[in-house]
Amino acid sequence: MKCNTGKKGCSYTYLYKLEYSIDTNRCSIASSYGLLILFSGFKLDKYLISMHNARMSHAQRANTSGDVCFVRAYAKINLTLDVLGHRADGYHDLATVMQTVDLYDTICLTATGDNRVKLVCTKPELSNDNNLAARAVQLVLERLAIRQGVLVELHKRIPVAAGLGGGSSDAAAVMLALQQRWKLQLSPTELLDMATSLGSDVPFFLTGGLALCEGRGERVTAIATYWPGSMRWLLLLKPAISVSTAAVFRNLPPSDYTDDTHSRAVSMALNAGQAPKLEDLHNSVERSVLENYPEVAHARTDLLQAGASFVRLSGTGPTLFATFSDLARAQRVKEQLLTSGYEVYLSRAIHPNAGDVCVY
Ligand code: C5P
Repeated sequence: MKCNTGKKGCSYTYLYKLEYSIDTNRCSIASSYGLLILFSGFKLDKYLISMHNARMSHAQRANTSGDVCFVRAYAKINLTLDVLGHRADGYHDLATVMQTVDLYDTICLTATGDNRVKLVCTKPELSNDNNLAARAVQLVLERLAIRQGVLVELHKRIPVAAGLGGGSSDAAAVMLALQQRWKLQLSPTELLDMATSLGSDVPFFLTGGLALCEGRGERVTAIATYWPGSMRWLLLLKPAISVSTAAVFRNLPPSDYTDDTHSRAVSMALNAGQAPKLEDLHNSVERSVLENYPEVAHARTDLLQAGASFVRLSGTGPTLFATFSDLARAQRVKEQLLTSGYEVYLSRAIHPNAGDVCVY
């Protein structure tokens, strides 16, 4: 049994038999072990209580394992991005190797007494129902026919529209939090379907870590949980522009398409505990992004001049990442770039579920 004293006094996760007695304004849960928990202020709708289908158990459990939870949503970098070709549905087939890094947003989910999903974000321009995190909550509630209000508070740290997957990571983190903390019964397939419908990068963030992603991005194959020492420190430089993913793909000439050779070579090397060859860390969209967005090209030059020896675009950009084997050098480069007015983050690879990555 776990007990957290939180805002509403008490929340319990009880591992044994629970029996429920519910009224519309208060939810009392009495266990066969004599434990009595009162969630005052929890409103369980009559509609919900009268549901006689398989979804009813989800709805009950959705309201009984704690009303407030905090989760982290980590950013990612793309070690490779092979764009294989244009598809009939408007998307592009990809092979990309992604790794989560320890730059993260913090999300607080609170069950509320109405039936509304409300999102509040530290960046006012993201405080709206169209935010991917709010849409993820809505999707889960609809899929399970749960009538429950949820407040999503989003402390945004990951730069927006930056090629770091921040919005996608928020959406995946929200789905996982609802699934795990509210003991929902979403199957892995249901989670994956919903994640894919929210965005091409969202499926990756359901597991995070290091993975090869194919198709639109939704076919995720985990790679090792260890990481080369030559890339121990990652410097992320976000030029002061936003780049539309759709525009980058739309403007990509077929001459920049590749096969999946680079991504496969990098996956194999990492799986074998070897550092990938730098020439395999290929990004198919980098050439055209550098050509079409001079700010990114300037930032790349500045990063190299400041002392980085390897620089690559993350996803469709505009964020660039540089790899370092030692902290002192990474820090020196970071300080020089900060002096030049750049937005820079010193980061490292992280696996959200498997603990820290092991560096070799
Ligand atoms: O899937 P997501 O909504 O993140 O994608 C944003 C846009 O990027 C898509 O509308 C599409 O134009 C482009 N895209 C693509 N091929 C992919 C992923 C994204 O063309 N595999």
